Amino acid sequence: MPGKRLFINIKSLYQVRPVGFTLARGKDMSVLPSIENAFLLVEDGKIKSYGKMEDCPQVADAIHHDCTGKIILPGFVDSHTHLVFAEPREQEFVLKIKGASYQEIAAAGGGILNSAKKLQALTEDELFFRSLPRARQVLQSGTTTIEIKSGYGLTLKDEIKMLRVAKRIGKETPLTVKTTFLGAHAFPKEISREAYIDSIKQEMIPQIAAEKLADYIDVFCEEGFFSVDETIAICEVGKQYGLKPRLHANQLHNSGGVQAGVKVGAISVDHLENIGDVEIEALRTSQTIPTLLPLAAFFLNLPFPPARKLIEAGLPIAIATDFNPGSSPSGNMPFMLSLACVKMKMTPEEVLNATTINTAAALHLADKVGSITVGKKADLILTKEVSSLAFLPYAINTNWIDEIFVSGEKLQKQD
Ligand code: NIG
Ligand code: FE
Repeated sequence: MPGKRLFINIKSLYQVRPVGFTLARGKDMSVLPSIENAFLLVEDGKIKSYGKMEDCPQVADAIHHDCTGKIILPGFVDSHTHLVFAEPREQEFVLKIKGASYQEIAAAGGGILNSAKKLQALTEDELFFRSLPRARQVLQSGTTTIEIKSGYGLTLKDEIKMLRVAKRIGKETPLTVKTTFLGAHAFPKEISREAYIDSIKQEMIPQIAAEKLADYIDVFCEEGFFSVDETIAICEVGKQYGLKPRLHANQLHNSGGVQAGVKVGAISVDHLENIGDVEIEALRTSQTIPTLLPLAAFFLNLPFPPARKLIEAGLPIAIATDFNPGSSPSGNMPFMLSLACVKMKMTPEEVLNATTINTAAALHLADKVGSITVGKKADLILTKEVSSLAFLPYAINTNWIDEIFVSGEKLQKQD
């Protein structure tokens, strides 16, 4: 039974927000509100109250945690992953080291199609048990809410298999899982382009919506993949079936994905390695959240998205891992903090906003997770004794996490 927990003597309680706060934008991203020498009371899986130690209530029946020298943060929200996949693709990694480009590998039947072939050969159970260790691993690194995409199935039955596995991860682990239908990830070789798009619109979307397997719809809008017009048409059908659009946009080329996303009212447009002033202006006049995936840029040696320009334009930034076997083989959010600070010149406060409340907003979950707010789910990261907030992105590859709590329950540690 979920009971009560009282965290006391917390060195700093970070990301403390009033009820109703949903997104940090522009220069407000540099503010990460905190309480020093704080207490935090959790009851029935939710945040009940918090404040200064001098105002700490006596709660005799609560489990007490002395947090002297330690920081508490909300759990990370990773709003873009492809965590369900069959196997890694390290041979393509070697080809890339030797000079092959992402597009060349894809054109030769590698890339997404390679992952699809492997995934199609697995049963649902096999796929689940291959994906489960990854889910456990991301939990240990502080992710408590995650979005998982399909897109390595590329047939109706295999897309459904992926989404069922993603949902099962949400049931059988403490992770909160949101799912995205990404049938429009690549064109399978077996059928024509037109036939595949028809199948997405006429078979896959209706069936997936009928089985309530997805919350969102995504399209890989990119040269050599889905055009702007195809992207818009697929999203419009998805919307009719209640799937909210979010897009892969402007990763390899400036190919119109941002404008397509704005046009269909996407919750977020993700990647943005190749954007200019026109795209930033389009975002400024929209509700669409720019989501940056710094590990994909790092791993493919792409230019990093212009985070400072986006912030200067007054925009909110979300940051996610893009965990997938081809372009971003890790779901480690602490590493995203470091990459974003070093490569995109974001401050520790900005990256913490980008990986908690703003990613929650990018999933329309900012009323439930992403900050220390009364009534929100008690998904918490308790750090080891650390010198300051800046130590977290600074200390690359150092495990500064002491304990994770999901709905107020302590997560079992794993080797
Ligand atoms: O987000 N860009 C498209 N999709 C993935 C890569 C998928 C893959 O290579 O398997 C991404 O980078
Ligand atoms: Fe992706």
